[in-house]
Amino acid sequence: MDFNLPILAPSILAADFANLGDNIKACVKGGVNWIHCDIMDGHFVPNISYGPAIVKAASQSAPDAFIDVHLMIENPDNFVDDYFQAGADLISVHYETCPHLHRTIQNIKKYGIMAGVVVNPATSLHNIEPILEYVDLVLIMSVNPGFGGQSFIESSYEKLEELADLRELGGHGFLIQIDGGVGLKNIKKVSEAGADVLVAGSSVFSTDNITARVQELQEIIDG
Ligand code: DX5
Ligand code: ZN
Repeated sequence: MDFNLPILAPSILAADFANLGDNIKACVKGGVNWIHCDIMDGHFVPNISYGPAIVKAASQSAPDAFIDVHLMIENPDNFVDDYFQAGADLISVHYETCPHLHRTIQNIKKYGIMAGVVVNPATSLHNIEPILEYVDLVLIMSVNPGFGGQSFIESSYEKLEELADLRELGGHGFLIQIDGGVGLKNIKKVSEAGADVLVAGSSVFSTDNITARVQELQEIIDG
């Protein structure tokens, strides 16, 4: 699948859930074509977010958007089918939740959708080197997963550059995604450090003009 990089990926975790459809449509009106869905189980991360029904609703609110499902859950293999049925175009799983990561990635890819691997701030990229040739996307967490509105962990810049080097050295084609604490003040620097897909939650939805905000963020990374 070809993408027009870099891509702004709003995380609907920060949306107004009483007006989720309108919030998503406001993003699409501003040119958004990638929606990031954060699934939290209250076990792997200390928060519970939402499930397949909300992902399906998001997919129906933006029929042409790429639906990116970030599983912050234990035993993700048990839910791949549910999120595929809900409309996921990409399912990303945490290295920290997958003792059989190669098998899990294959389990996702057999649905004909993209498979991603996620690393927490304290997880070294060396842990995922053996899987890099098999994934379509690597997500670097720039906050500790579980909540929106946290501050960007500054060491993520070096991690992005390290991952870009690993991709080049290995001749890999995966996308590099960054997630957490990305906003108006740092999105340009994050993009320049090597991020192809930039997740932004609170910086997108903490405004009364979502359409203008996503246009502003995209113009910064396109600039
Ligand atoms: C955190 C989630 C992020 C979060 C981003 O566990 O994975 O996607 O929603 O929200 P902000 O952009 O507000 O940090
Ligand atoms: Zn996320």
